Amino acid sequence: MRRLAILGSTGSIGTNTLEVVAAHPDRFKVTALAARANLDLLEAQVRRHAPRLVSVATEASARELRRRLGRTLTEVGWGVTGLLQAATDTGGDLVVSAIVGGAGLLPTLGAIEAGKDVALANKESLVMAGHLVTAEAQRRGVRILPVDSEHSAVFQCLGGREASLLSRIVLTASGGPFRARPRETFVRITPEEALKHPNWAMGKKITIDSATLMNKGLEVIEAHWLFGLPVNKVDVIIHP
Ligand SMILES: NC(=O)c1ccc[n+]([C@@H]2O[C@H](COP(=O)([O-])OP(=O)(O)OC[C@H]3O[C@@H](n4cnc5c(N)ncnc54)[C@H](OP(=O)(O)O)[C@@H]3O)[C@@H](O)[C@H]2O)c1
Repeated sequence: MRRLAILGSTGSIGTNTLEVVAAHPDRFKVTALAARANLDLLEAQVRRHAPRLVSVATEASARELRRRLGRTLTEVGWGVTGLLQAATDTGGDLVVSAIVGGAGLLPTLGAIEAGKDVALANKESLVMAGHLVTAEAQRRGVRILPVDSEHSAVFQCLGGREASLLSRIVLTASGGPFRARPRETFVRITPEEALKHPNWAMGKKITIDSATLMNKGLEVIEAHWLFGLPVNKVDVIIHP
């Protein structure tokens, strides 16, 4: 039985993770959930999975969630302290790091320092501080399991063999919603158009990063840290 702390449980990655948990109750138990402010969904997730702790971004949200949860035994935390507690202190042995953006870094590092394996979706942790995250993981003998699909594919191709065997990684990109659009019309692109990804339903930040192809740049950096290849050995090909 794997005991999971899911950080970012109300997001695209978080809700998909909870679907997998729900499909395999004999294999996974949720010990902690954390998100920012989606209290309706968090309340439902707590009632369904009965974690030891749930954490939200602010004290006001924590108070409201506590009120809604009534007599349920789940402890309610908030802020960075709550996030770190969710990542380190609830008996989980695998931390799913699926918060979006820079807020994911501290709990990811905290989990590693506490000796927990990390299923890493929060690529921003590696982009911002790959040198710290990978060094700490090595020092603690902790595994970082890539959740980002391209990196997960490389990880699965390796099948347990050393990443030092890799000579080159090629990341594919769909090219996003504006691949065939004439460049001179780019100034009229609206946020709504940029949020329509041709292949995937994901959170807003990664969808916008995909539309601008910035996401592929972040993925190159992520691959560099995850697999120890120099950046010039990580190629990108647009392959819709
Ligand atoms: N979606 C994908 O298919 C995909 C694929 C590859 C990689 N990723 C990576 O996975 C990460 C999550 O992406 P996503 O698409 O799942 O994002 P998302 O749908 O926007 O969800 C973000 C999650 O982070 C939580 N959150 C945001 N700020 C927070 C804070 N300050 N403290 C605590 N929780 C906070 C949100 O809570 P609220 O709902 O309460 O705001 C939500 O649970 C990103 O780093 C992304 O690059 C995603």
